[in-house]
Amino acid sequence: MQQAESTKPFRQQSSGRHYKDSRYRGFFQKMVARREQVLARRLLDVPYSRCNGHIVDIPCGYGRFYPLLRQLDMKVSAMDQSQAMVELYQEMDGFRPDHDHAQQADVLKPLPADADRASRALCVRLFQHLHHGELRVQALRTLGANRRRIVMTYYDDGCLHYWSKRLAMWLKGKKVRVKMIPRARFESEVAAAGLRIVKRIKLVPGLHAQTWVLLEPLDDA
Ligand SMILES: C[S@@+](CC[C@H](N)C(=O)[O-])C[C@H]1O[C@@H](n2cnc3c(N)ncnc32)[C@H](O)[C@@H]1O
Repeated sequence: MQQAESTKPFRQQSSGRHYKDSRYRGFFQKMVARREQVLARRLLDVPYSRCNGHIVDIPCGYGRFYPLLRQLDMKVSAMDQSQAMVELYQEMDGFRPDHDHAQQADVLKPLPADADRASRALCVRLFQHLHHGELRVQALRTLGANRRRIVMTYYDDGCLHYWSKRLAMWLKGKKVRVKMIPRARFESEVAAAGLRIVKRIKLVPGLHAQTWVLLEPLDDA
């Protein structure tokens, strides 16, 4: 099964730059972005004895989480299917090319060798764009390869966001483009990839679909 091309944006350099400059400008988007940093930090701070300080950030986008990963003193392998995003990442203030690296990669394929030694993966705001369970399980297998611990988000359908989005799209006569799934379905996909949920935190309980989870290999329990 193939990922829909419409969910692989930013083919042109200028589209990545426009996204970077405009995506988190509004008041609510700024609040959401701030809370995402808090939740990422909370899950990355959970003690982890096998952590070797190396993390794969995929999809890395233009680098929203790089300052946090630097603060946590991690070696970062940043990856994204979009070359435009990879270049924005490399141009970021404070990017340490001698320590970290950014390169193009697809989460639905085995990752480049640079990611092999990473004991953790960060995957923010991708899963709502993977519309089929088969693709999500494939992505979970890639993220969890080499027994990596994963901090990631998916969109859960148990919230107002699900109904408001459906209503808004129905009124516009359009299809909902983000995939929100029931908690039980996500749990079964996680188990199918040989993983388990250690922690689960909602971005805004009852209101927003974004859900953060910390995953580890099933036999680490
Ligand atoms: C909403 S952005 C999130 C980026 C970043 N994680 C953040 O939160 O700012 C989604 C990103 O997923 C990337 N993407 C889509 N499909 C992908 C795939 N199969 N493999 C890797 N990256 C992918 C897009 O290029 C885009 O940069």
